[in-house]
Amino acid sequence: MSNRMWGGRFTEGPDAIMEEINASIDYDRKLYAQDIAGSLAHAAMLEKAGVLTAADVEAITSGLAQVKNEIETGRFTFSRALEDIHMNVEARLKEIIGEPAGRLHTARSRNDQVATDFKLWVRDTTDQLIVQIGGLMKALLARAGEHADTVMPGFTHLQSAQPVTFGHHMMAYVEMFERDRSRLVDARRRLNECPLGAAALAGTSFPIDREMTAAALGFDRPTANSLDSVSDRDFALEVMAAAAIAAVHLSRLAEEIVIWSSAQFRFVRLSDRFSTGSSIMPQKRNPDAAELVRAKSGRIIGDLNGLLIVMKGLPLAYSKDMQEDKEQTFDCLQSFSLVIAAMTGMIADMTVNEAAMRAAAGSGFSTATDLADWLVRAGGVPFRDAHHITGRIVAIAADRGIELADVPLADMQAVDRRITDAVFEVLTVDDSVRSRTSYGGTAPGNVRAMVARWQARLSGT
Ligand code: ARG
Repeated sequence: MSNRMWGGRFTEGPDAIMEEINASIDYDRKLYAQDIAGSLAHAAMLEKAGVLTAADVEAITSGLAQVKNEIETGRFTFSRALEDIHMNVEARLKEIIGEPAGRLHTARSRNDQVATDFKLWVRDTTDQLIVQIGGLMKALLARAGEHADTVMPGFTHLQSAQPVTFGHHMMAYVEMFERDRSRLVDARRRLNECPLGAAALAGTSFPIDREMTAAALGFDRPTANSLDSVSDRDFALEVMAAAAIAAVHLSRLAEEIVIWSSAQFRFVRLSDRFSTGSSIMPQKRNPDAAELVRAKSGRIIGDLNGLLIVMKGLPLAYSKDMQEDKEQTFDCLQSFSLVIAAMTGMIADMTVNEAAMRAAAGSGFSTATDLADWLVRAGGVPFRDAHHITGRIVAIAADRGIELADVPLADMQAVDRRITDAVFEVLTVDDSVRSRTSYGGTAPGNVRAMVARWQARLSGT
């Protein structure tokens, strides 16, 4: 049978392989609600423009309501022969209402139709993601508030560097996720223009009202260039790029959770709800959720790359390559939503082992910088010399297998006679973090102030 949409020009139907490579219904059926909303807006506008009669539009409206109901109650038969969601919906509408269904596609093409449907899906999903990131930030803030005073080792090169607080560490991620959230808010603002009415690529000769359909679908305005309208997929790429950057942040936090929950660190313990056991080793509590957050970030980045590569060589306007936008975008944003949810759960539920963090914070000569800073402040020693003097004292401690605060004063004075016993006041981890009061520093007072500021900022979201 030749195709019922373009059968006028064709005598033979498609090869089975043609049907298989061409059909998108297996995944674009997800767009049914957007497709029907777009058709309703288009039909109402065509009536107002005098292109369709009130009777036709009434039939279309009630027919589409029935199609929607059939899909939502599992009574709709999707057909691969009908290629995609647009033709599946229209064909069923024809069965239900007959001739008026054929008038719905006036002044419209599947090219502007799919761009509109897909944009609506990306927009609605972006709105959900923005809310979800806010939820993750609140979970981090709650833990930061509880642990503004909890000292832990701060690392560079994963070597003990200087003590910080766990609250400060959590707040570092709040800053990152706020940037991620604002990237999505920004992308959302940019994408909210309606392609419907661009038709195949050149616009239409019918007296359509694009402002009307744009407003009906919640867009700020219609897109301004018909070629761009049907060729643009950067709205999806931009949201995916924002997701990929955020996924990198999630992956780094996930990696830290994997390290922190190991028997060697024991900084945190994931709840049973976010851990798995081993089928052979009874002692195991595996951080699978964190590992999967880390892994799915690779998948999210891959999806972004996949669509960038699909798009990069396409001349204007529409090419069928663009049908490959959907699976990658769906996979990207759904994976992203899942990893945010998993991370929010892990953070909210995990137990923080303050004693293990404190013990680790005091090891590895982590207050060496405090000793050097003390020499600068108390003895007027230039920082470079203070660094050298401190290095010699660290070497003594390392030789003897003791921490800095346990090196006897006499031995320190043998290295530099300007050292007095006041130095011991800066060598504890609590003194160290309390002293870091510069703006953005780890001092508990700073952390508490930041938590309060963010709580106020997020309270309305
Ligand atoms: N299923 C198609 C897609 O997702 C719809 C647009 C088809 N347009 C066309 N000219 N073949 O891109």
